[in-house]
Amino acid sequence: MEPKFTSKMAEKDKAERNRKRSEPVEDKRIISNSRLEDDESDRSLRPKTMADYIGQEKIKKNLAVYITAAKNRNEALDHVLLYGPPGLGKTTLAHVIANELGAQIKVTSGPAIEKGADLAAILTNLEDGDILFIDEIHRLNRNIEEVLYPAMEDFTLDLVNGTGAMARSIRIPLKRFTLIGATTRSGNLSSPLRDRFGVILRLEPYSVKDITKIVTRSSGILGIDIEDKASEEIAKRSRGTPRVANRLLRRVRDFAEYEGQDEISLQLADKSLEYMDIDSLGLDVTDRTVVETIIDKFDGGPVGLDTLAAATGEESSTIEDVVEPFLIQLGFINRTTRGRVCTERAYKHLGRSFKGSYEGRDLFSASEEEKKNED
Ligand code: ADE
Repeated sequence: MEPKFTSKMAEKDKAERNRKRSEPVEDKRIISNSRLEDDESDRSLRPKTMADYIGQEKIKKNLAVYITAAKNRNEALDHVLLYGPPGLGKTTLAHVIANELGAQIKVTSGPAIEKGADLAAILTNLEDGDILFIDEIHRLNRNIEEVLYPAMEDFTLDLVNGTGAMARSIRIPLKRFTLIGATTRSGNLSSPLRDRFGVILRLEPYSVKDITKIVTRSSGILGIDIEDKASEEIAKRSRGTPRVANRLLRRVRDFAEYEGQDEISLQLADKSLEYMDIDSLGLDVTDRTVVETIIDKFDGGPVGLDTLAAATGEESSTIEDVVEPFLIQLGFINRTTRGRVCTERAYKHLGRSFKGSYEGRDLFSASEEEKKNED
């Protein structure tokens, strides 16, 4: 007989659907904030100490206090949750924290832990004061997440041996470790898990000034001189993300080598970025196509997501998860109940004349085209 579908099962089902939805859509563009294969060479560019870590001043100040206190008391640091968009240096920061504490760090990720036994093996191998870094912690399976609760709270592992009437629970003491969790979607974290972090820190996009410093620092490590203006130009097109900045820098350095230049000048940076089709705000062809399509084919919107996808030849999920977030952050696109609309800023950036916002037009006399696009 089929088991009865209980509300608890429905809740679990919903949580699972949420987790599946949170699997990222792949984005391999040069201005993508996702980690790409090519970024492995970035490791040498990562700062190792707080003093070398540029930006995120508020977070650094907080962490300096907690780290000093934990060291003075000779205790493990409280569990830390780092959240914020990809590419802002959550993994880097976890390594910096470990380094500052003089602690060992073990690195894993939510999707890499497939079974409770995998996590149990990791936890039982930790030493006093060690750091366990779990990237994409929102993608941990719910059953595995439950193994973490007593581990984080009481430093114990509750295992069940056997099944049915023969089941016995065993408690294994763990060493006092610090969990550092990183997530791009703190909203997808269950509240029991979130509540067990003593320190919750949100990373913000970097200012152009900070990214400029990062580019100059990275150039030094890569062994190539760079003009201040060139660092700034790369920074402006990096979408507030060090990962993108370092990636663009490496490509610009290739151009410099190709042209036989031993310094990256503003002119060379400009020329290479133009060649890569990255515009003054860091938009690439896909970003511009989405904006241009809304303006040219749909009169600035509103246009439904699926219609926009069909008109641009992109998947709806790619537009929604990969392309749109940055355009919304720039204030180029708004999501409205009637579909996507472009703002005056977007028109200006593309050098088009703005005919007024759609709110300014009479909603009740929406054109047939607009009505068709309301999905
Ligand atoms: N490289 C990547 N992120 C960095 C940061 N925040 N500071 C210095 N270098 C970096």
